[in-house]
Amino acid sequence: MKFFIDTANLGQIKEAQALGVLDGVTTNPSLMAKEGIKGDAAIKAHYQQICEIVDGDVSAEVFGTEYDDMIRQGEELAALHPQITIKLPCTKDGIRAVKYFSEKGVKTNCTLVFTVGQALLAAKAGATYVSPFVGRLDDISSDGVALVKEIVDVFNYYGYQTQVLAASIRHTQHIIDCMKAGADVATCPLKAILGLLNHPLTDKGVEIFVADAKKMEG
Ligand code: E4P
Repeated sequence: MKFFIDTANLGQIKEAQALGVLDGVTTNPSLMAKEGIKGDAAIKAHYQQICEIVDGDVSAEVFGTEYDDMIRQGEELAALHPQITIKLPCTKDGIRAVKYFSEKGVKTNCTLVFTVGQALLAAKAGATYVSPFVGRLDDISSDGVALVKEIVDVFNYYGYQTQVLAASIRHTQHIIDCMKAGADVATCPLKAILGLLNHPLTDKGVEIFVADAKKMEG
C-alpha cells in the first residue's frame, strides 16, 4: 500500500519524505488555505515547492465547479510539473473533466467519493485514483472502511486499473483498516503515519538494549 501525506504544510511534507516511506501528497483547498497561501502565483509556487520535495504524485485540486473552469485550471496545474495529478470532484462536470484529462494522459484523482456508484463512474472515466472519504462517512455514522472494501472488490472483479486512494483518514487505526480492506493508497496526516510506530514493547526493548549495550563498552 502506498502512503501519501494529506497536507500542504511544507515542514510536514519534508518530515514525511525524510522518513523514506512517502509515495506522494494530496492537498485540497482547505489544506492550502490553512497554510495562508493566497493568489494564483502563490498557489502555483507552493505546488512547485511540494513537487521538489517529494518524488511521487502530488494532487492539486481545481477550485471551479463548472466544466470549463475545471479544464482551464487543470491544464494550468498540469503544466506546472509532471508529478501534478489533477484532483476533480465526483460531480457531473468533474467526471467529464476526468475523462478529458485521462484521454490526454494527465493523471487524475476523483475526489469527494461517498458511494461505490460514484467510484464506478470515476473508474469508467479513466481516473488514476478514486478517493473515498473514510472519516467523513464515519462522522455521519456510516462505515468509511466498508466503502473502501466495496470499491476494492468491485474494481478487482471488473479489472479496473483505477487505484483506490483512501482519503479523510483521521487516525492510525484507519490506516490499518484501509490496508486490510485492500486500498492501493492511504493519504494520511503525518500524526497518523507516525502513530504506526507506537508500541510500548518497542520503546521498552530499545531501553533495555541501550542499557545492555552500555555494559559492553570497553
Ligand atoms: C484528501 O484527498 C482529502 O481532501 C482529505 O483527505 C479530506 O480530509 P478531511 O475529511 O479530514 O477534511
